[in-house]
Order: sequence, then structure tokens, then C-alpha cells
Amino acid sequence: MLNLNNPELVRSQSYIDGEWVEADSGELVSVVNPATDEEITVVAKLGVPEAKRAINAANNAWSLWRSKTATERSQLLLHWYDLIIENQNDLAKILTAEQGKPLLEAQAEVLYGASYIEWYAEEAKRINGDIIPQPSGDKRLFVIKQPVGVVGAITPWNFPNAAFVRKVAPALAAGCTFVGRPATETPLSALAIAVLAEQAGIPKGVFNVLVGSRSIGAELTDNPLVRKITFTGSTPVGKKLMKQSADTCKKVSMELGGNAPFIVFDDADIDTAVDGAIASKFRNAGQTCVCANRILVQTGIYDEFVTRFVEKAAAFKLGNGLEAGITMGPMINAKAVDETDALVWEALSKGATLASGGHRHDAGESFYMPTVLIDVPTNARVFKEEIFGPVAPIFRFESEQEALELANDTEVGLASYLYTKDISRIWRMCESLEYGMVGINEGIISNAMAPFGGVKESGVGREGSSYGLDDYLEIKYMCLGGL
Ligand code: SIN
Repeated sequence: MLNLNNPELVRSQSYIDGEWVEADSGELVSVVNPATDEEITVVAKLGVPEAKRAINAANNAWSLWRSKTATERSQLLLHWYDLIIENQNDLAKILTAEQGKPLLEAQAEVLYGASYIEWYAEEAKRINGDIIPQPSGDKRLFVIKQPVGVVGAITPWNFPNAAFVRKVAPALAAGCTFVGRPATETPLSALAIAVLAEQAGIPKGVFNVLVGSRSIGAELTDNPLVRKITFTGSTPVGKKLMKQSADTCKKVSMELGGNAPFIVFDDADIDTAVDGAIASKFRNAGQTCVCANRILVQTGIYDEFVTRFVEKAAAFKLGNGLEAGITMGPMINAKAVDETDALVWEALSKGATLASGGHRHDAGESFYMPTVLIDVPTNARVFKEEIFGPVAPIFRFESEQEALELANDTEVGLASYLYTKDISRIWRMCESLEYGMVGINEGIISNAMAPFGGVKESGVGREGSSYGLDDYLEIKYMCLGGL
């Protein structure tokens, strides 16, 4: 069992209207540590009746929450942030136990998630309006920003803490109330965050967390009281949620799939590029929507890059992330390993060469070796699809134009990366890459102070920064006449 300072953080009930509740049906869902296949705990599995109750509670709480002053909301958020910092080690252990990532990565995720609360606690005080220049004699025009209302959030298992917090924080800062459904594989992080929200004094009904069936997602999208849906997950599910949300014209924020090109030009600092590619590709065992999915290396340094990359990929120590010295945890489950393995073998069947890995690791069914594929043809699935596993396909290119064409040859456009010392090329490439984010000589780009999000089929809207707050606000224009 987990050895926590604050065992109260592990909950098996959901949090609705300030109460910890069981499922009406009595159903339970088992939460399993993917590193050991052991059950951590069982959690109540809720459904539509409880989702309706949570939405009603959030709607009832909205008038109270929106009428709090910006300073009051800010102070509550800051108090919540302090409690998260105080409990960061326990939160990290919970996260590693349910999701698998090494403890160091989990600690970084907890702090990263908390930084959204800190940032938005400050931003809550800067939701300014506008005064428009007087258009004619007796008229004055104003714009104010107001909370959209009840927000429904659906979050994934790959970042169970940060993906959840970065939706709650701007919602509450904006004056919205919130009903969130974390992934059933990893519900404990979100429930622990709710424990601390309750302790921080966030009023009842403002923040609700429901663990349960997919029908909760359908209720969130269908229910007219919910005015906005925010989702992080796959592009097909995002499209479905957008369609479901259309009937009630909800606002939507969708953070969907990626297929990030990681482009390394001949003139790049090769050590920086290899380190950046390793960090971007293999953190969270490659289960990150912004991770380097296609590594494109210019011919002049291709062989040297591959040699150094393979050496570093082989140095990862796989195992239970709660143990010291482990640098890569399991994938989320054995099925995910099978899917990743199938992608590797499909690439090999199309002519790619296996430079390292390519099979399960003996630590268990959910572990896959860090794998490097070289000279990969572009008709392989690893070129076209998001891999979501610790597999690095490396492609060769000759010219800047070819790199750009390869990079943009995808329906999605979340993150991209570019390694070169040529400032004119940096500018040209940044303008032409069809992506929401570009890392320039940098493989880790996420930050609460910056707009995270994609173009094309990678989604709609941004998370983080003041742009992310705007997605939780409606604009109201007022025209004052008769002056
Ligand atoms: C994600 O994969 O959803 C988020 C990754 C990040 O925030 O860096």
C-alpha cells in the first residue's frame, strides 16, 4: 500500500455538491497500479443520475461563485495552491501508483499542475473589460467579460493531475463552476485534488468530480445547463464530443491528438538536439500528446545523431516508478503495449530498421523497451499516426523544403520542434509550420504562462496564459445612449 503522510488523500467516493458520494447503482471500478498489476483501491462508479445532480449543484452554486469578488476567488485559489504544495509528495506518490510514471516525473507534474492554479489565481484579478472610443455624439460603448457558466470537463489518464487542474484553475478563476470526469484508469489524482479544494474552502457545488462511466460525458455534452465542454484526449473522441455539444451550442475547448515533427538540421548543436529529442520522446513512456512523434534528421548529421540517440535510449532504467533510480515506468496497460508493438512491426514490414528495443521489457506485461526505428519510410503508420508509446522513428531529409513538407504532412498540428543555429531559418520555419506550438532548440515547452493548444485536427482553443482564460469567458457589449 502507499505510504502517505496524509492517507485521507486517497478517496473511493466522488465529490458532488460538497459531499463524498457512493454510486446509486453500487457499482465499483478497480484502480490498478500498471507497474505491478496490483489493485490500489476500488472507487465508486457513477452514472447519469449522479451527473445530473452534479450539474444541478454546479448550476445552483454559480450565482454565489460568480458574485464573489475577484480578490476572494483569487485568495481561495491561492489557499488551494498552498495545500497542493504542502501535499506535493503524497500527490506525486498517488500519481505514480495509478499511472506508472517515475516519481520524479510525477513530482514535476504535480508542481506543473499547481502552477496553473497559482497563475490563474493572479489572472482572476485581471479580467478587464474595454471602453471603445465614442463612435458618435451621445453614445458610449463598453465591453465586459463574464464567466460562461457551468463547465464540463473530461480528462485523460496520461497526465491525471495536471490535465485536470489546468481545466479547473481557469474555470474557477473566471467565475465558472465545474463538473469534471477524470479517466477511470486514473481517478485518484483528481479526487485527491478535490480533498484539498474542500479543505481550502472552495464553496460546495463549485467544484465537482465524478468518477464513472462514459455516459457521464454524454450527459455533460447534452445537458443544457452545461455551457462549456473542455476535453483532452483523442481526436476521434473530441470530434464526437463536439458533435454532441452542437445541439445546445456549447462553447468547446478541445486538446486533441498530435504527431509532432522533431526537426534537426545539420547545423544544430547535436548534444542539445539529442538530449531534447530523448526528453521529448520518452518522458511519460512516450504517452504525451506533444512528444516527438517523428524525428526528422538532415542527412549530414543523421548517422551521428542516430548513434548518440540509440545510446541514450538504451540507458533508461525501466521498473516501478515508486522505486529509486527508475527513469521510465510502464505504459498504461498491456493492451497499450500490444498496440505499440504492432506499430513497430508494421514499420519493420515496410522496410524500417530496428536500431534498439522492439519488444516488451521483462519488468512486466505493461512495459515496453525504449525503441528506435531508423530509415523509416513515410508510408509506415508511425509517420501518419500518434504513437503514444516509447518508440522513436527517425526519418532522413535533405533540404529545408523537404523537412517542411514532411512536417506538415499530417491532419493534426499540436507541437513541433526545430533544432538549428540559423536565425533566418528559424523564422522561416516557425512561420510555415502548421502547428500551434514550436519548440526552438527546446524539447520541453509546456508552461502555465503560455498558450498550449493546436491547429487543424489537434483541437480548438488554448489552455494556460490569458488566452486560456478567455475560453472560459463570454464577452458582453453594452451601448449607453442618451448622454
Ligand atoms: C498532454 O500530453 O496532454 C500534455 C502534455 C504537457 O502538458 O506537456
